[in-house]
Amino acid sequence: MKTMLRLRLLVLATFVRTGVSIMPFFRKTEISDKDLGDLGNYLSSPETR
Ligand code: HEM
Repeated sequence: MKTMLRLRLLVLATFVRTGVSIMPFFRKTEISDKDLGDLGNYLSSPETR
């Protein structure tokens, strides 16, 4: 996996796991690490830009 993509997924996971502003945090029971990774890859894929 490319370094910048890995960084984006790490930043995404940090916001989702800790929450930000009025955004609530999401536990692993709510969105698994795999689902979060899949979501990040989907949001990062060229087709969706
Ligand atoms: C880098 C990634 C992300 C950042 C920086 C971010 C940041 C934020 C911020 C600033 C808000 C508040 C918006 C407002 O003031 O109205 C928000 C809301 C929200 N975010 Fe995120 N978010 C990110 C990714 C995600 C992801 C991946 C999800 C889904 C798993 C998510 C779910 C939500 C939800 C549900 C709200 C609405 C909370 C409410 O209105 O009660 N966010 N997010």
